[in-house]
Amino acid sequence: MTTPTKTAGATGALGTSYRRVEGREKVTGAARYAADFPAADLAHGWLVLSTVARGRVRAVESGPVLQMPGVLAVLHHGNAPRVDADYVGLLGKPDPTVAVFQHDRVPFAGWPVALVVAETPEQAREAAEALVVRYDEEAPDVAFSAGRPGVYTPEGNPRMPAETTKGDLEASLAASAAVVDAEYTTPEEHHAMMEPHAALAHWDGGRLEILDSNQGSRWVAEELAKLFSLDVASVRVRSEHVGGAFGSKGIRPHQVCAVMAATVLQRPVRVALTRRQMFSLVGYRSPTAHRVRLGADRDGRLRVFDHQALNQTSTIHEFVEQSASVGRTMYDADAHHTVNRVVRLDVPTPTWVRGPGEAPGSFAVECALDELAEKCGVDPVALRARNEPQAGPVSGLPFSSRNVLACFEEGARRFGWADRDPRPGVRREGRWLLGTGTAAASFPSGVAPSTAAMTAEPDGTFTVRITAADVGTGARTALTLVAADALGVAPERIRMRIADSDFGQAMVAGGSMGTRSWAWAVRTAVRELRDRLDLGGDIPPQGITARADTTEAVAALSQKERHSFGAQFAEVAVDVTTGEVRVRRMLGIFAAGRIVNPLTARSQLVGGMIWGLSMALHEEAVRDRTSGAHVGPDLAGYHIAAHADVPVVEADWVDDPDEDDPIGLKGVGEIGIVGAAAAVANAVWHATGVRHRHLPIRPDRVL
Ligand code: MOS
Repeated sequence: MTTPTKTAGATGALGTSYRRVEGREKVTGAARYAADFPAADLAHGWLVLSTVARGRVRAVESGPVLQMPGVLAVLHHGNAPRVDADYVGLLGKPDPTVAVFQHDRVPFAGWPVALVVAETPEQAREAAEALVVRYDEEAPDVAFSAGRPGVYTPEGNPRMPAETTKGDLEASLAASAAVVDAEYTTPEEHHAMMEPHAALAHWDGGRLEILDSNQGSRWVAEELAKLFSLDVASVRVRSEHVGGAFGSKGIRPHQVCAVMAATVLQRPVRVALTRRQMFSLVGYRSPTAHRVRLGADRDGRLRVFDHQALNQTSTIHEFVEQSASVGRTMYDADAHHTVNRVVRLDVPTPTWVRGPGEAPGSFAVECALDELAEKCGVDPVALRARNEPQAGPVSGLPFSSRNVLACFEEGARRFGWADRDPRPGVRREGRWLLGTGTAAASFPSGVAPSTAAMTAEPDGTFTVRITAADVGTGARTALTLVAADALGVAPERIRMRIADSDFGQAMVAGGSMGTRSWAWAVRTAVRELRDRLDLGGDIPPQGITARADTTEAVAALSQKERHSFGAQFAEVAVDVTTGEVRVRRMLGIFAAGRIVNPLTARSQLVGGMIWGLSMALHEEAVRDRTSGAHVGPDLAGYHIAAHADVPVVEADWVDDPDEDDPIGLKGVGEIGIVGAAAAVANAVWHATGVRHRHLPIRPDRVL
């Protein structure tokens, strides 16, 4: 074989569009997802969820159901294996919802009360629907509203303070020439990824094997090991193909149920969730309420920035939607206050949903900025330029790079912003009123320790093993390009194996940190391998393997404000007779580090922007205040943007390499959604002259 060192860096694989390495498998149907795998002697579990939102399970009447065709077992709190949920995992304590069937209390509607296992999914489903469960019911409290007093516990935010304060808010407000004081709300939103959660568990000798759909196979393996008091070496989780995740695919009740049933029956068991079950079992974005107070000089320079955000959590676990983090990065002021509060209700625990914190938070803040621009008579782009901080407004730390203005300049030029008449409600085209809007975007750019192994094979190819997860983002392809570039070989010579917990510890696909964290490990493994290949000699049949662990390198990073940034633009048309809002075009320009694969990075950014459009106009899960359960929990009742709703959406970027990353990466996973809903809402104001501070902007609200 040729030694790779001679052509190192010569391929230019980074920054060149490359089609997904698993694309052919996916479009031909050869790619298997968690619910697709065959297995000999496979049994099927079907979950039974509580119909009450608060109370106790008085009886699970398994007897008649056990007589039904094919039924093998009914697991419930009276007979299920015991688990230990009192541990601290990678991301903190687990949501106790994963400790299924451990007691008789019901904390929300849709809580798992039983698992029916049968020979076929149809038999399991029929028996699950026939199972009678009796409850002692109590009246639930599920009423989230802006007026509720929220609380916060600093422990709820292990990585972020709940509240930050500097300066004198009231004095600075009194000294401000222009003041905005407004409330904004966003509804409960769901991940609504294409592939529902599913897991197949079986014991292979003394090893627990799980085929799953998740954002981190090592993460899920470690959580399951802790839950079932097993050595992590005796648990193997694989999740090669994932049809979307967006924050919801960690450890969830279905994997736990599959393991319990496989243990009790000593045969393979699959548990697949239905779309309806997902509404209560896999997390969601909390509804949010915001009070934003801005005070400024006549020219728009901020004197006051105050963002008070409220979200809901369950009674059993605290999750904080970090909405108020936006202002900690984006805007400085003499008096600056941010706080995230929660209200505990009889509802499932919310979780991360793409752009957690920043997605709803930017809707409030970037709409308030637009209101301030109107009040001051300053162009919205100019207002943001006037308020660019030199350092982190709360931390005081320098930015690793902050190209917000470069994004606005390039975006404004390409969007044609200079021609905009600032007056609202003056452009009309038949029955449509037209308007344009803009908003800024930011999302933290982090990196976490990962391990990787790289093998030089005797045939001249290279195999990378890393517990990365490609949740549809193109991460696997990006890592192929990173490896190829570092080795100086064609991408076709790289075999990228991912999503197997046996490959060791690695960051999860989350927080816009996956690809960056894994790329660092892959790059390090290449360096190690090249050192060994430089020693010369033949490659033995088993190849030569080098391993990397970035723990120390990542820990050595200096403290800085590290974020991806962006500028969003939207044009809308509002039907004056029906109140329907149609987005006509969107443009997002981002500063998100060096771009590995423009083809898939653009898809990520455009996908985020489309979700922002969807958030602005369509998405809203509705909870019935009496029953505590969702109304229409499926994709007929929960509206997401369809193709017909989505016009030309363009995303592009400015040069913005991160100087402290070995490759210059930041992250593109979430930045696309941030600010997109605000740009649409600001455009609706520009079209109509009416502010819409509550999402979604439904026709009945517009009229
Ligand atoms: Mo993402 S919401 O961090 O999976």
